[in-house]
Amino acid sequence: MSEVLEVKLHDDAKAPQGQVSIRDLIGRMTLEEKIGQLQQLDASAPDLEETIRTGRVGSVINQADPGKVRELQRIAVEESRLGIPLLIGRDVIHGFHTIMPIPLGQAASWNPVLVEECARVAAEEAAQHGVNWTFAPMIDISRDARWGRIAESFGEDPVLTSVLGAAMIKGLQGERLDGAFSIAACAKHFAGYGTSEAGRDYDTTNIPENELRNIYLPPFKAALDAGVATFMSSFGDLDGVPASANEFLMRDILRDEWGFEGFVVSDWDSIRQLKTHGIAEDYREAAQLAAMAGIDMEMAGDAYAENLGSLVESGVIDLSAVDSMVENILQIKLSLGLFESVDRAEKATNVTSHADKMKLAKEAALESVVLLQNRANAQNRANAQNRANALPLSRDALKSLAVIGPMADQPYEQLGTWIFDGDEARSVTPLNAIKDYVGDDIEVRFAPAMQSTRSKTEDGFAAALDAASSCDAIIAFLGEESILSGEAHSRADINLPGNQAALIRELKKAGKPLIVVVLAGRPLTIGDILEEADAVLFAWHPGVMAGPAISDLLFGVVSPSGRLPVSFPKVVGQIPIYYNHKNTGRPACRDTVVHIDDIAVGARQTSFGMTAFHLDAGFEPQFPFGYGLSYSEFAYENLQISRDALPVGGVLDVRVTVSNNGTCTAYETVQLYVRDLVGSVTRPVKELKDFRKVHLQAGESKDIVFQLHTDQLAFFGRSKAFRVEPGTFHLWVGPNSRDGLQTEFRVI
Ligand code: GLC
Repeated sequence: MSEVLEVKLHDDAKAPQGQVSIRDLIGRMTLEEKIGQLQQLDASAPDLEETIRTGRVGSVINQADPGKVRELQRIAVEESRLGIPLLIGRDVIHGFHTIMPIPLGQAASWNPVLVEECARVAAEEAAQHGVNWTFAPMIDISRDARWGRIAESFGEDPVLTSVLGAAMIKGLQGERLDGAFSIAACAKHFAGYGTSEAGRDYDTTNIPENELRNIYLPPFKAALDAGVATFMSSFGDLDGVPASANEFLMRDILRDEWGFEGFVVSDWDSIRQLKTHGIAEDYREAAQLAAMAGIDMEMAGDAYAENLGSLVESGVIDLSAVDSMVENILQIKLSLGLFESVDRAEKATNVTSHADKMKLAKEAALESVVLLQNRANAQNRANAQNRANALPLSRDALKSLAVIGPMADQPYEQLGTWIFDGDEARSVTPLNAIKDYVGDDIEVRFAPAMQSTRSKTEDGFAAALDAASSCDAIIAFLGEESILSGEAHSRADINLPGNQAALIRELKKAGKPLIVVVLAGRPLTIGDILEEADAVLFAWHPGVMAGPAISDLLFGVVSPSGRLPVSFPKVVGQIPIYYNHKNTGRPACRDTVVHIDDIAVGARQTSFGMTAFHLDAGFEPQFPFGYGLSYSEFAYENLQISRDALPVGGVLDVRVTVSNNGTCTAYETVQLYVRDLVGSVTRPVKELKDFRKVHLQAGESKDIVFQLHTDQLAFFGRSKAFRVEPGTFHLWVGPNSRDGLQTEFRVI
């Protein structure tokens, strides 16, 4: 164990022990040293060590080699004049070495405890490498599967995203920021980035204030309430003012309304990009706009380093503003305990074992997978010989199994996007896990069929069909490689890439039970394989334990329990499509839409004429938000509410009985939605307000009780304030956003 690097601040500055000491330290700093604290440099920056030595760096990003991190810290605390330690930033989005499911997959678990535990392991591994700050959770609401970064999000709903974002922050920051394995979290990207036009990354975002406040801001407020240490400004141009220059966001809302006390970092070079946006004449004006807006630290750009000094000396920016920016940053360094020691992790005692990390990774993968379809295969359906659904597979009944497809044996691709430090060697693929599970009992025949998911040739199809025809059942692993989602990786067409749909049609010819497992970073339009597939498991990018988790689900060791955190469109032209939409003046509903030959050709004449839907796609998604099947069957009964009239400030007790009427133990995620029938602004037709994930044995029933406070019904309306408006509300409790028991109450 190397000796712990104690921070010995030089004579020029006392070791800060609190607010007063920070101010004392600031009083000793030159203007150049103050501006230095506002700068985050990439590890590849030229003359990095000398720049640190001269006190002109506050943070380094993208150095995760523990030895190199330690040397940079040593230079900062031992060789710079004031010895101020560095923030070491790294994107630890869904794991460090042990990669967990992508955040969109973790969201499908609807399990905040699991999300927190995954973040805790990630923070531990990162802290052991000297990382003390990460740029997560990404809590941008996203309703557009074309956007590559939907993979990093928790999906389309403000409540689910708020709960899971807070859980991730708790996991990353621990009980105390100065904990041995605590790292500062970062709520990003503030705000509205997920509405980038057409799902094109970095594109324009225009969001009316009541939509911004009711949909896109709540997860950030929840992050602040959870104690998040930092915020990151978005690349986006919000209503004509890019976030990195947006005083409304960064000062009016974040500081003045919400009272945020941490610091704000720009996104990568997004301050200089203000010039590219065309809102700043040059980098000097960009620096001025960003500083005035309240961006404390500049990530990977030199607008501040090159211009803040002259802006202060010329009186354009007041020195007190710079002092405040420095104070925000030093306060987080103090809270992290960095002035005491930069080697906090070395003091840790309770290190999580590798086995426990892999066990958690498997549990996270298990709970993230969503069963979208499951039926008896056509032949069995026809002859009623065996009406059993295609899943779970019976280990005893099978003698051979065909494992087909380009995603069956891809240890790197199954990890997904944003895995800088992911350890592919830890990755267990579905092919290997299935072989391990069945051993010699079942012959496994593997055929990749395609070089990659994007292949457009059919060269490998014959071998795949040959394998499929000779086996009792077929499992096809399809989807997207990790590179097809993530930052700057949006798709205009979200069908299965390449010839994958053709492969499924080819495999269908074998006439065997056909199970499709999709590994992807976004919802895909998979309608064209639903007819051929008997069962469909959607696994997102499940991380290192994808294989063992998927194998256990396929063979029924565990029942699938994932529920969709985002609506699945039938076709890309339906986007944006989301469950908490407005009613419109001519709403479509199932019995108003007239179909001829499965094409909606119009609407039955109704009292208000035509209705809102696409002739060639209808108005419903392929699968709704909150949807997911199980190997068991759950019944909802006896929905009761404690009162019909609820005074503002009151609490409504909501009770329902959920029964597992199936044959296997399984999780069920009980979801509570409301609809505010009339408001000062139009209100969504449904809004998730609470959920409870329950584990029920076969035959077990449980009374689930929710407490709905009127505060949860508040919204930003025409009064320009958050308040609950008296009136009638519908309330549902059910398995997803489409189905459930309904009742009604009034707020008085
Ligand atoms: C990127 C991303 C941001 C990330 C940062 C550092 O451009 O937008 O989410 O944390 O740069 O890698």
